[in-house]
Amino acid sequence: MTGREPVRVGVIGAGLMGKELAGAMGRWSALETSAVEPVLTAVCDVNPSALDWFRRVSTVQTLTDDYRQLLDGSVDVLYVAVPHHLHEKVYLDIAQAGVDFLGEKPFGVDPGASAAINEGVAASTAFVRCSSEMPFYPGVQQAISFLRQGRAGRIIEANFAFLHSSDLNVDKPINWKRQTQYCGQIGVMGDLGMHVTHVPLRLGWTPTTVFAQLQELVATRPDGRGGTAVADTIENATLSTIVAEPNGDFPLTLETKRIAPGEMNTWRMRVVGMQGGVEYSTRYPQTLNTMTIRDGQQVWEERMAGSQSAQPTITGPIFEFGFTDALLQMWAAYFAERNGTLGEAFGCATPTEALISHELFDAALRSSQTRQAVPLTPGTRRRHQPADVAGVIGR
Ligand SMILES: NC(=O)c1ccc[n+]([C@@H]2O[C@H](COP(=O)([O-])OP(=O)(O)OC[C@H]3O[C@@H](n4cnc5c(N)ncnc54)[C@H](O)[C@@H]3O)[C@@H](O)[C@H]2O)c1
Repeated sequence: MTGREPVRVGVIGAGLMGKELAGAMGRWSALETSAVEPVLTAVCDVNPSALDWFRRVSTVQTLTDDYRQLLDGSVDVLYVAVPHHLHEKVYLDIAQAGVDFLGEKPFGVDPGASAAINEGVAASTAFVRCSSEMPFYPGVQQAISFLRQGRAGRIIEANFAFLHSSDLNVDKPINWKRQTQYCGQIGVMGDLGMHVTHVPLRLGWTPTTVFAQLQELVATRPDGRGGTAVADTIENATLSTIVAEPNGDFPLTLETKRIAPGEMNTWRMRVVGMQGGVEYSTRYPQTLNTMTIRDGQQVWEERMAGSQSAQPTITGPIFEFGFTDALLQMWAAYFAERNGTLGEAFGCATPTEALISHELFDAALRSSQTRQAVPLTPGTRRRHQPADVAGVIGR
């Protein structure tokens, strides 16, 4: 694409999500207004077979098992998709080198790690954002617009959820996401939590108080080598929070579940107020439901969301949108904001939003321990210990 500024992109962590980056870069021409042309040039992974996959991407020149080789100015932007216990060290090293990056959530395993990352980023010149793509579904964008226009009136209640179910299969072998030493004591909240906090935080809805019900449902899993391994993570988390708003406090419920039978990768939201409501689920990705009051009647109506999200694409407006489109949108938003051209369009989650999310998850652990509602503690730098999950249901 002539006129677009080439940007050299590298990936650290060539697993599930690292490969998705290659797909997103490959579809860049679908974006109508992007000022950049990202080119995937370098890949790092400690697993040689993960690196091998990238040999199919013709623009990739560097394959390495040491991410520090990508901090020498040979790439302009990094995507980091490594297990959670590595976030703090890797993100801090990249920030210190002054390389821009989009890091995967949750930005460390606990508030201590997340705060350290925030400080490292603030002290650097790097432009840094946190991955969260689901809000880029057109239906979510339209729901956000409905709420920003104040069409719900005084909010009565809000619910955001991200629901998986493959862990219902107890024969599914263990991986790092099911072991606290790699994914942190916050378990599923680290995995899915940023996905449900991004939109409420962006709407200015920071919880003040949390009552959490955290569940451990599967204690062991096959280790993949014929034996059994301990699966010591929280599978499901339901956070009942209170948001203080000038128009009046309201309950905000945040659900993150690895075992929500029947839900494969469902992100959903429902917000109702005194004048209107809005409801959206990626289970029915084309359908946006809104409620308005007309002639004294409460009218819920359904309309199709179409293909257009925050950043315009060549895709016909009547066509369908999916997960890979959401990733493309997230990256387009990242580069637009990096270039200073995002304007009023929806942006990627920030390191600060990741930190607030950690403070929320930390409050959830404390609530679970005491079986009581607890306040969020801004500025906590707590490093989690095994005892922090003592109150988890089923443990
Ligand atoms: N945004 C999303 O929708 C989404 C979905 C899944 C996972 N994630 C996030 O992406 C990140 C990675 O998850 P995943 O599912 O891709 O995991 P994965 O296990 O599939 O991939 C992680 C990769 O990191 C590599 N790795 C480990 N240590 C490394 C090191 N020191 N240097 C370089 N590479 C190293 C592993 O070999 C592996 O290939 C996590 O933060 C996770 O929360 C995000």
